[in-house]
Amino acid sequence: MRVTLVATAPADITVDALAVPVATGQRLAGSALDLDRALGGLMSELLANAEFKGRIHEVLPIPTNGRIAARRVILYGLGAVRDLDGQRLRSTHHELVRAARTYGYKRLALARAEPLGIETLAAVVEGCVMGTFERRSRQTGAQPERGEIDELVLTGFGQGRDGEVVAAQEAGEATNRAREWQNAPANELTPDALAQEATKIAQRHGLEIEVLGPAELRAGGYNLLLGVASGSAKPARLIRLRHRGKQVDGRPSQADATVLALVGKGITFDTGGISLKEPKGMSQMKADMAGAAAVLAAIDVIAGRKLPLDVMAVVAATENMPGSTAQHPGDVVVSADGKTVEILNTDAEGRLVLADAVTHALRNGATHVLDLATLTGAATIAIGHGATAAVSNDDGFWRLVEEAARRAGDRVWRLPIFADYRVLLRSQIADLRNAEYGEAGAILGGMFIGEFVRGKPWAHLDIAASSWNTNAELTTVLRGPSGAGTRLCIELAELMAGPAR
Ligand code: BES
Ligand code: MN
Ligand code: ZN
Repeated sequence: MRVTLVATAPADITVDALAVPVATGQRLAGSALDLDRALGGLMSELLANAEFKGRIHEVLPIPTNGRIAARRVILYGLGAVRDLDGQRLRSTHHELVRAARTYGYKRLALARAEPLGIETLAAVVEGCVMGTFERRSRQTGAQPERGEIDELVLTGFGQGRDGEVVAAQEAGEATNRAREWQNAPANELTPDALAQEATKIAQRHGLEIEVLGPAELRAGGYNLLLGVASGSAKPARLIRLRHRGKQVDGRPSQADATVLALVGKGITFDTGGISLKEPKGMSQMKADMAGAAAVLAAIDVIAGRKLPLDVMAVVAATENMPGSTAQHPGDVVVSADGKTVEILNTDAEGRLVLADAVTHALRNGATHVLDLATLTGAATIAIGHGATAAVSNDDGFWRLVEEAARRAGDRVWRLPIFADYRVLLRSQIADLRNAEYGEAGAILGGMFIGEFVRGKPWAHLDIAASSWNTNAELTTVLRGPSGAGTRLCIELAELMAGPAR
């Protein structure tokens, strides 16, 4: 989909459909009013009659009968203005584009009108690009359900903003790449396939890449990762990509020693291991690598933009399988960090592989750590699919993460870390236990990982719920894979890299 910014009056744009935003209880204003006049009051009549109400995700195509250059006007709802945050801005435009594709439009224009301000440009473009997402079908001879939009023409956002449009397209496409990886079956996207995807990214940008296999993992003492992997015939991979954005004459800059590590959970399939999950819905666990998908998609963009910040992506990739070689509940494992961990539940595997991945990031110079993981069902219980549950040990770093989330339209909600809860992580026999805390599952899952960050500023994003909305009744939150965290990581790197260059 080509995206262009024009200054043409909406009535003069020759496209299949011209989209006009409407919020509930809002009158037409500005360019929408001009358009209404050109159409003989057709739009205002539909609104006055409440045939179109501006509800979120409501879409209505109207024939224009040659009164304007576009063949159709398509009204699309934004919902209530007070609820229109960055996430809703993306989802409304996502649904607009999906509807336009369903109607078979090839050329789509969008006339900015109140309450959409010109500052929504990035959100609009990202949402529209995300709306082009179509999960790759593995059906033989299947016809695509929806068409493709060739061109999106934006008017009313001002001129000279092509750079912003390109950046938003990149962010939208990166999100879709993460969604595609989430969607890929576990027999296709194996730990090694994930490493190959990382290698492609490294080659594209000339990034440093390191992929550790079982022998190197043993040598490095990454026993938590190896323990989770021990039930699988597929070898584990600890993947590390490094974008060196802060260099002076090929050497690291002394002035700014910040190294941001984006650490992703890459469980390509989570059966639960010996603490086996129930069969119902287990296929969903192909997406237990959503954290890995987000950090890989993000560093692709970060490197592409040559951001002046050192960023590494670390992915702990393995399956979690039962079998005669699998680890047992009750096993005690020595982490790469040296702490001993009692494995009380082999299904709490995410925090295990992440602990070793965080240690790997610190060994390689990380100064700030953001981990992304489909870690707990408790995140869904606590917050639901509308936002990512988070914890952090550092208010300053958290403020950056929160601002990145706001800019990205990628909701996060911080849960507290209470010192009182630390005793719940204790084991009778080892330094830590990985489960059976009794309560506050999303917090304690995060706190477990926090035990390995050695005091560095850190935030943990539990995307178990936000990365895939499985609740059919929750209709205003995108269904299926969302690529949660992808745009947040990009925005965080942008913020940490400093003011716009
Ligand atoms: N991958 C799951 C968490 C999950 C659940 C992600 C649902 C997406 C949707 C994770 O590995 C897991 O099994 N967590 C356990 C932890 C428990 C045993 C402490 C859980 O949440 O039940
Ligand atoms: Mn699990
Ligand atoms: Zn898992």
